[in-house]
Amino acid sequence: MNFSKFGQKFTQPTGISQLMDDLGDALKSDQPINMLGGGNPARIDAVNEVFLETYRALGNDDANSTNELSSTALTSIGNYSNPQGDAAFIDSLVGFFNRHYDWNLSADNIALTNGSQNAFFYLFNLFGGAFNDASANNDSQTVDKSILLPLAPEYIGYSDVHVEGQHFAAVLPHIDTVTHNGEEGFFKYRVDFEALESLPALIEGRIGAICCSRPTNPTGNVLTDEEMSRLSDITKRYDVPLIIDNAYGMPFPNIIYSDAHLTWDDNTILCFSLSKIGLPGVRTGIIVAAPEVIAAVSALNAVVNLSPTRFGAAIATPLVNDDRIKQLSDNEIKPFYQQQATTAVRLLKEAMGDYPMMIHKPEGAIFLWLWFKDLPITTDELYEILKKKGTLIVPSQHFFPGVDVTQYPHAHECIRMSIAADEQTLIDGIQVIGDVVRALYDGK
Ligand SMILES: Cc1ncc(COP(=O)(O)O)c(C=O)c1O
Repeated sequence: MNFSKFGQKFTQPTGISQLMDDLGDALKSDQPINMLGGGNPARIDAVNEVFLETYRALGNDDANSTNELSSTALTSIGNYSNPQGDAAFIDSLVGFFNRHYDWNLSADNIALTNGSQNAFFYLFNLFGGAFNDASANNDSQTVDKSILLPLAPEYIGYSDVHVEGQHFAAVLPHIDTVTHNGEEGFFKYRVDFEALESLPALIEGRIGAICCSRPTNPTGNVLTDEEMSRLSDITKRYDVPLIIDNAYGMPFPNIIYSDAHLTWDDNTILCFSLSKIGLPGVRTGIIVAAPEVIAAVSALNAVVNLSPTRFGAAIATPLVNDDRIKQLSDNEIKPFYQQQATTAVRLLKEAMGDYPMMIHKPEGAIFLWLWFKDLPITTDELYEILKKKGTLIVPSQHFFPGVDVTQYPHAHECIRMSIAADEQTLIDGIQVIGDVVRALYDGK
């Protein structure tokens, strides 16, 4: 079959698509697997119960209904919404955000997408790629703009979303050694503002937006309020938006343990998701932005999806209306992952003893990021060895969109492990990682 360039770009195998296939195959296999590789959220009983209750109520909330499906459910899934998304859910979100933050939003500030991955596909193509060159005399001259990732490593899912080529610039981190709960053996990435502000692409107008995930997938880092405020100032100075990927952030799912605050203004595009509260299958992303951006996203929704899915909206609307989504996040989801992180750190320290492992300070998200400095092999190779032994992690080099990893050894020395698994899987998987990595350092 002869595919267009677009077709070729999106069908060519990438490192990450092969990796995701591996993870999917592992889940289907009948061999026991220690799954520390994927991005699935954990199943938390107390949270799932509330989802189930809400789901059942959808079918029962109209006493006069002769149909098994009530009016709410039918309105929701029996009709398309307009391309901006389910209006009742958008109204609930407006009320929710205005109750908890002084953002003064209206319905013109919110659009829904089919998961936030869908939102990044839109946003990175809206703000990255070929632009008309405003300084040129004719319309045919273009300037190529990139999405600037101020703190590599970043979320693997950004890498391949551009319809043509890849348009990323990234800034390598400062690596600070830090303590965590009074213990040694941790580090924290910080934004290198000197490098960022002297980037020729930024100074010369070849950056279309700045984007960071906060908390960050893969590292569990949370950019500080001061870092966010400096990034916001820089975006305003260069007249580009600041995109904040809040998939793990506050107020839901609120998997964030450091002292951080969420701010929004007209120049900020905030992306939320229902996935990490435990509903990845309903594919619901939420964008909060200036009306101009919301209109662009709605127009894209119309072409790509007609209208975004309404099922997630139907389940989440009552939880947003009475703030249960926030209570579940604060009282169940956040403590669950904080406990998982504590357990995994303890197991890792026991497994590695005095060997040179450093852990990125766990500040949020559902992962730990481990650094095996001067490991004799790359973590891509380590991944293959661990896979043969039935333990899956994700090697680090895929988390550096915009970075030439051939020139950056650190990008081959880290792994991401999920902490969403049950305790026995953490125990077994970490034991395998410990055994293999210690043997490698010992030259065996
Ligand atoms: C940082 C980050 N952003 C966005 C996404 C996309 O999530 P979804 O499309 O399920 O909302 C993920 C998923 O793992 C993520 O980790």
